[in-house]
Amino acid sequence: MAAYIVLLFISFLLVLNPVPVKPNGLVLPIQKDQSTKYTQYITRIYQRTPLVPVKLTLDLGGENLWVDCDQRLYYSSSYKAAHCGSKVCSTYSGGGCRDCYVGPQPGCNNNTCTTAIRNRITDHLTGEELAQDLLALQSNNGSSKAGHLVTSAGFVFACGEASILEGTPENVNGFAGFGRGKLGLPSLLSKGFRLPNKFALCLSNSTRSTGVLYFGDKPYMTNPNRDISVYLLYTPLLIKPFSIPGVHFKDDFSSDYWIQVKSIKISGKEVPINATLLTIDKEGYGGTKISTIHPYTVMETSIYRAFKKAFIKELAHIPRVKAVAPFEVCYSSKSLPYTQVGPSAPFIDLGLHHESVWWRIYGENSMVKVSKDVLCLGFVDGGENREVGMVIGAHQIQNNLLQFDLESNRLGFTSLLFLQQTSCANFNFKG
Ligand SMILES: *[C@@H]1O[C@H](CO)[C@@H](O)[C@H](O)[C@H]1NC(C)=O
Ligand SMILES: *[C@@H]1O[C@H](CO)[C@@H](O)[C@H](O)[C@H]1NC(C)=O
Ligand SMILES: *[C@@H]1O[C@H](CO)[C@@H](O)[C@H](O)[C@H]1NC(C)=O
Ligand SMILES: *[C@@H]1O[C@H](CO)[C@@H](O)[C@H](O)[C@H]1NC(C)=O
Repeated sequence: MAAYIVLLFISFLLVLNPVPVKPNGLVLPIQKDQSTKYTQYITRIYQRTPLVPVKLTLDLGGENLWVDCDQRLYYSSSYKAAHCGSKVCSTYSGGGCRDCYVGPQPGCNNNTCTTAIRNRITDHLTGEELAQDLLALQSNNGSSKAGHLVTSAGFVFACGEASILEGTPENVNGFAGFGRGKLGLPSLLSKGFRLPNKFALCLSNSTRSTGVLYFGDKPYMTNPNRDISVYLLYTPLLIKPFSIPGVHFKDDFSSDYWIQVKSIKISGKEVPINATLLTIDKEGYGGTKISTIHPYTVMETSIYRAFKKAFIKELAHIPRVKAVAPFEVCYSSKSLPYTQVGPSAPFIDLGLHHESVWWRIYGENSMVKVSKDVLCLGFVDGGENREVGMVIGAHQIQNNLLQFDLESNRLGFTSLLFLQQTSCANFNFKG
């Protein structure tokens, strides 16, 4: 009898305090979108009470999560503005305390702190209310299917304005910033779901199939039950001082992901470039970053010119066709027949931190199909801008798995997954 009462008491306690389920990882769907003039990759989270799906443009190096709270469309019984003097403000706000006159409503409350929000497609920047609300994501249960929704209460984000959404598709409500820094999604998801601060991105090449972002540690499973993390090679992730080169703020660093590219080869032949431009200097100039906002890789002009020249030389036996902007080097698709790794273009190697580590780029990632008959070299001239030597754009990372390991500060990369008979479109979100 006594034992029965104890048991009853224990089950009573369990009902009152459900043990929070700690997922092994999270998965976010990533959909390529070309409905606007800017190619972008859209993800979906669930937020608020009651939970609603929220579509966001993925900004790999973006500083934070922000959603549009304008138009009085944000309804939630769990919305909490961050009030000045609170722990949330002192931890996450760069300062600034404001009042607002059209509210109270989400995004407009008195005595709240703010943070900068950015649309890096159009380069819009503003300061908006910092807030907290319930967040839910699908869990990664170690299979190639998305698992149940898991929630994190009081998840920190910024409440933006619809006007800053310019350039995004109509159904997009904000930006998902996966950059470094305290307000970046990696740091917040890692804290909110008690997961290692690592994530892996796999962009699909088509608007008709869905790619995946795995948050947390491997395995990163694809159909039929294969862990694609086994193909990762690694190079260090570098911290670039000063988010604006030459402008010194205390403790300021770039939220983007930077790697050391030391050399570029085409068909195994070294392209003569000034490697200094690809090295981050003390003032924060130079270097190579990875971006999902740039659809194609951008190179500083001297690097671009040398690269273009070397590529043309490798394909000198093939006639070029009229170029299609923003590209300058185009061929008839008949001259570059499809192979397992995409159009049969010369392979490009990015030599990384150590001479034995390189990232090989095949035709699938180097060439862009601009029409039924024309393929163009998918790299663009960045002009005489020494702020960034090279931005590796989204087209070049499609169907590659990239792991951003912020525990060990390293980037894992697989090169083209077609070589492993798989792609980024093999994760099942429908369950
Ligand atoms: C903020 O305070 C001012 C002055 O007391 C008041 O006029 C305004 O309505 C308040 N705004 C909100 C959003 O509560
Ligand atoms: C993972 O979740 C999916 C969808 O809920 C389910 O079909 C599958 O059986 C789960 N797998 C494991 C290993 O728990
Ligand atoms: C896109 O990827 C799929 C595999 O997911 C492949 O079959 C297809 O050829 C690719 N399309 C282009 C245009 O590269
Ligand atoms: C390489 O680039 C750096 C940085 O812009 C410049 O200072 C240097 O003169 C360049 N070297 C050559 C050989 O052009």
